[in-house]
Amino acid sequence: MIFFFFADFISLFLSNIGALKKKKNLKCYDFPGTRGRPAKTKVTRCDQNRRMAHWFHRNPLKATAPVSFNYYGVAGSPAANKICNDLRTTRARLLDMFTDSTCNPEMMKNATDAYFSLLQGFIAALDGTTQENKMRFIQNFKWTDTLHGNTPSAQQDAIFELASMAFNVALWYTKFASRLAGKENVTEAEAKDVHKSLKVAAGIFKNLKEVHVPRLITPAEKGKDLEPRVMDAYIIQSQAEAQEVTIARAIELKHNASLIAALAFETANFYQKADHTLNTLDPEYSSKWRKYLQLKQQFYMAYAYCYHGQTLLASDKCGEAIRSLQEAEKCYSRAEALCKEYRHTSGPGSTAKPSEQLFFLKLGALIKNTLEKCQRENGFIYFHKVPAEAPQLELKASYGLAEPVGFEMPPLSEQCTPEVYATFDLTKGAKNDKGKPKEEEVKPVKEPDLKPQKDTGCVLS
Ligand SMILES: *[C@@H]1O[C@H](CO)[C@@H](O)[C@H](O)[C@H]1NC(C)=O
Ligand SMILES: *[C@@H]1O[C@H](CO)[C@@H](O)[C@H](O)[C@H]1NC(C)=O
Ligand SMILES: *[C@@H]1O[C@H](CO)[C@@H](O)[C@H](O)[C@H]1NC(C)=O
Repeated sequence: MIFFFFADFISLFLSNIGALKKKKNLKCYDFPGTRGRPAKTKVTRCDQNRRMAHWFHRNPLKATAPVSFNYYGVAGSPAANKICNDLRTTRARLLDMFTDSTCNPEMMKNATDAYFSLLQGFIAALDGTTQENKMRFIQNFKWTDTLHGNTPSAQQDAIFELASMAFNVALWYTKFASRLAGKENVTEAEAKDVHKSLKVAAGIFKNLKEVHVPRLITPAEKGKDLEPRVMDAYIIQSQAEAQEVTIARAIELKHNASLIAALAFETANFYQKADHTLNTLDPEYSSKWRKYLQLKQQFYMAYAYCYHGQTLLASDKCGEAIRSLQEAEKCYSRAEALCKEYRHTSGPGSTAKPSEQLFFLKLGALIKNTLEKCQRENGFIYFHKVPAEAPQLELKASYGLAEPVGFEMPPLSEQCTPEVYATFDLTKGAKNDKGKPKEEEVKPVKEPDLKPQKDTGCVLS
């Protein structure tokens, strides 16, 4: 369990506060390190109940109505019919993958590529002209939005389908990461997958926002998934969460305290930015998500001030160290208060329980103990005045920042040749009386992860 690295390290730290002064001159701060040792497996019963299963807030997956891709006379050749059939089956298979708890990134990628390589046959210009693909607007697609319950948005546009489906793929990656981080003992390779999956998700959201969504004829309405503010929030949140893994890793490898402070500060800034991008949306559907982003911001500010305080102490600036740790205490209290508010705010998504995690609780203890130590030392040795102002955190983390993994659409399926494209005849379908496919309903997605969890009632020793 990656976050146990954290807890382990902190316990170790508490017993040997001087350990940080033993500087290790390591260059590799990005995750995964090359010196990894396997996750500690000795966890108490209590710890097992408190693994990081509820560390990340997750909004629900998007739901969609089934699509038959049945255009009767329009598909005027066996090859054209096959494309339509394959679109239907590959789409259905991809939708199944979203709720299949055995699905891994390789399966997800295969299922996504299978569908998107065909769907692009309805988007790309296949007849060598610059005109729109004639099939682009043939089908109405319905998708719910993550913040708007079961009310679907609908557009008769294959690009809307492409963007909505890819959006769900990105959401799936964030959920996969969250599930993996919540496992009992996360291996080195799995921790790497958590980090990678979050960066892949960020890359998909980013690609959609920059490349595909701008091509929509009808821009998304306020607060809908394909709207820039919402997309930005997802991009930044995914990056920030990937960085959380990097921080856990940096601590586990006992990296330089000033580097950990810098990474924590950058991560807090990411959360703040994500929160701010949502501040013009209706609180009714955005405030729960925003509380999560705010509590994470305060939590990582507390981390940043705590580790910055250690750096200050190590360079004999005891008064400033005390002030930094006092600031850490304030941020930590704010994070605690926000955790409560978050839990009591209704809104879409799973309710994370960060304040119950060892990872969260141990930081409180670390701040308290470090502050007490600084105050003792100041009373005996330094006699520094504690400044009124909190120290400035102008720490630019120059490495370890999580960049989105670039996302590219798969190549167009070999089935979609200009010759086959020519056999689609839009004039045919309309003449057929029974040619109007019936409108399908959107059923909510049954997500295995989204059951509300009961408290474990576990008491920490
Ligand atoms: C994914 O596709 C590749 C290439 O077609 C194949 O070799 C691999 O077995 C597939 N993996 C899964 C998990 O389906
Ligand atoms: C955790 O690791 C231990 C020791 O390697 C192993 O016996 C146990 O099955 C693992 N638990 C899970 C859930 O994988
Ligand atoms: C810790 O990192 C900071 C910033 O990168 C650097 O200035 C400092 O020299 C490092 N300290 C040690 C002991 O490596």
